[in-house]
Amino acid sequence: MKCRVCRGPAVIDIRRHNANFCPEHFERYCRQQVERAISDFEMLSLDDRALVAVSGGKDSLAVWELLVELGYRADGLYVGLGIGDYSDASASHARAFAEHRSLELIEIDLRRVHGYDIPTAAAVTRRVPCSACGLSKRHLFDEATIDGGYDVLVTGHNLDDEAAVLYGNVLRWQTEYLGRQLPVLAAGSGFPRKIKPLVRLTERETAAYCVIRGIDYLVEECPMAGGNKHLAYKEALNEMERRSPGTKSDFYFGFLRRAAGRFASDDPERSDLGRCLSCGAPAAAELCAFCRLTDRVAGAEPVPVELLRTSR
Ligand code: AMP
Ligand code: FES
Ligand code: ZN
Ligand code: ZN
Repeated sequence: MKCRVCRGPAVIDIRRHNANFCPEHFERYCRQQVERAISDFEMLSLDDRALVAVSGGKDSLAVWELLVELGYRADGLYVGLGIGDYSDASASHARAFAEHRSLELIEIDLRRVHGYDIPTAAAVTRRVPCSACGLSKRHLFDEATIDGGYDVLVTGHNLDDEAAVLYGNVLRWQTEYLGRQLPVLAAGSGFPRKIKPLVRLTERETAAYCVIRGIDYLVEECPMAGGNKHLAYKEALNEMERRSPGTKSDFYFGFLRRAAGRFASDDPERSDLGRCLSCGAPAAAELCAFCRLTDRVAGAEPVPVELLRTSR
């Protein structure tokens, strides 16, 4: 296997591009894919101040590294979700990365600042953990971006994530979500601009990028994500991709080119929202969903993640 660029020994094959790369040219390929996503979707300019939401996993550390490599100004944001050892480990990976590169990392601990953690919220609300988790993350990401005076919030969502979510939404024709399934969401109605610069890279590629760059990421997945439907969608898409390389990116980018615009009016977040009486965030009712959750779960007896797992 030879590198497409220099004909030296290749370490990775990328079937959808019919290409193999050596480490050096694979890194260059990753930078080019991110640059292309940024310019195709007008995500970011060099003057912008970006805040990267980092979980300590491969995608978020890779996107932070790539943005810095490309000359963008990017600080990190870590949210402590209180998911036992998993959260402790993710915090250490995010901190070690930032320290090594002398990058700024903002930390928000859900229990310390808001009086609850995800296992407790899941137990009290009797819903899947990802529900309180997603809601809390979205709220805290938006708030930190706006309060910190950043121009844009960056997440590590990659092509596999976006294609899997799209697949799930299409299977159920959840048109209200299809209107928002974009690699860039413009700022407005109290929300910051949100971008996903890794949409042109798969998770296999972001993992390989981290290994080649010596980025020590947390390999373990969230212990509470077991029943997550997206895993099944990812597997189904991977099987189709194996048989016919390029299917996944054709599905996702074809949607963006030809279909996404048709669903824009189904997006409820575009309608005018009021402001939460408690925190000032955009809200459809008197209180935003985050403050309603906090009211319900803050102060509840903490439920350790181990207990929640065995009781499920
Ligand atoms: P997930 O919701 O776990 O699929 O993660 C999607 C993206 O959200 C990641 O790529 C990160 O950018 C961000 N993210 C996830 N967990 C955290 C966390 N605990 N703190 C900050 N950012 C996070
Ligand atoms: Fe949110 Fe696991 S990271 S429930
Ligand atoms: Zn090469
Ligand atoms: Zn609120």
